Amino acid sequence: MDYKKIIELMISHLEEGVIVVDSNLSIVYFNEPSINITGFSPREAVGKNIFQVFPNINKDNSTFYKVINSKKPIINHVQNYINCKGKNVSIVTSTIPIIKGDKIEGAIEIFKDLTHVKELSEKILMLHSTLHGKGTGENKFLPNGSQYRLVDIIGNSTPIAELKKKVQKVANSDSPVFVFGETGTGKELIVQSLHNLSSRRNRPFIAQNCGALPENLLESILFGTVQGSFTGAKDKQGLFELADGGTLFLDELNSMNLELQSKLLRVIEDGVIRRVGSTKTKVVDVRIVAASNIEPRKLVEQKTLREDLYYRLNVIYFRIPPLRERKEDIPMLVEHFINTCNSKMNKSIKGVDKEVNEYFFNHDWPGNVRELQNIIESTMNFAEGKYITLEDLQLQTTSCVKDAKVKLTESSLPKGTSLKDAVDEYEKHLIKAALEESGQNCAKAARALKIPKQTLHGKLKRYEL
Ligand SMILES: Nc1ncnc2c1ncn2[C@@H]1O[C@H](COP(=O)(O)OP(=O)(O)OP(=O)(O)O)[C@@H](O)[C@H]1O
Ligand SMILES: [Mg+2]
Repeated sequence: MDYKKIIELMISHLEEGVIVVDSNLSIVYFNEPSINITGFSPREAVGKNIFQVFPNINKDNSTFYKVINSKKPIINHVQNYINCKGKNVSIVTSTIPIIKGDKIEGAIEIFKDLTHVKELSEKILMLHSTLHGKGTGENKFLPNGSQYRLVDIIGNSTPIAELKKKVQKVANSDSPVFVFGETGTGKELIVQSLHNLSSRRNRPFIAQNCGALPENLLESILFGTVQGSFTGAKDKQGLFELADGGTLFLDELNSMNLELQSKLLRVIEDGVIRRVGSTKTKVVDVRIVAASNIEPRKLVEQKTLREDLYYRLNVIYFRIPPLRERKEDIPMLVEHFINTCNSKMNKSIKGVDKEVNEYFFNHDWPGNVRELQNIIESTMNFAEGKYITLEDLQLQTTSCVKDAKVKLTESSLPKGTSLKDAVDEYEKHLIKAALEESGQNCAKAARALKIPKQTLHGKLKRYEL
């Protein structure tokens, strides 16, 4: 078998561009996808020096040049340049040295087109800057770019009431805040409410999900860039500058790499930022709020959150309890979501019936308030009566609920059965159905029923199943 041919065939079918240079930076290989990104054909490129083919690249910014000289790889590096067709392209590159013995023979660069992602993130920056101070009037957004206030947080259970009090208490402090809550618990609501209660409320609220962008791009989005810091870079404000006087919400902070975390720590400690590629610093006044859906201590243990940053951010800590710890909030939330959907869908549903209430109380809500909101919204698309019934609901829930319900209606309960016994009977059916479906595997059944394994064991014991 001709392995060289096979490898060439494989590389030519990759989505990524692949360019290989020798130690003199002359191109020896150039695959098909590189044509779309660079604008050159392999015929034009192969044999030429890298600086001839890409005139905007020089020794200071060429990843090939750096890798050949340092013999060290550069992974996931974001570069911008104008290709030979005059198109502004952004690419993320990984450049690896080819070393034989201790002699450098060349380097391989694998690159992906990032232009689309870059354009989107720039649009976000532009929207942030135009949104501030204007207010669109046609949607729910407040002029500072946020959407929620404390009154939008529904629920009066003790943990939520206490959390709301805490938010009010610390709103005017400038100390950083760390928010922990499982997915769908309302982190965004809490953080925006904090901003809107603070004296910063007339300044911007800017949120950035740290997991949404590649690392280098996140750095330039946060800190801004100066012209020429890398090819194609323009003088641009970053989110820190845009959020000056306001709040910067760094969501999914644990997705940020450790190096950038240390830069963030420095900004928090010194109160100054430096745009990527600049030597000048600029004072910024931004309150940092970070969030994660994993407990911060666990993140430190896993080494995805720097310990020093953790202590600096954790000056104020909000834990948003999952919905299963505050089921007393469910009726209020249900009423709220029904009212919202009624006006959106032009319906007049009054509430949910008792069976649905029981189901909601027994459910564990792994997706928290978002899950409840989604169930109500999708059910309301089909519900026809005044009250949402289990039948309306089962259209949206798992098949085992549906199966159990069918079996239950077939095996009619004796007349005069109390509600509690009927609910128990129904729960027994659900559990039996889930066990059957999972081949009597408790862990699987618990997952299907969305309850912890221990809860299922407890129920099996209670029902003597
Ligand atoms: N207490 C609440 N009252 C009213 N709506 C709520 C409440 N908590 C959450 N919601 C709604 O649930 C949805 C999810 O909330 P949010 O986006 O704040 O969750 P999150 O904790 O940021 O989740 P993720 O970790 O997945 O980003 C939103 O539509 C929000 O409006
Ligand atoms: Mg969120």
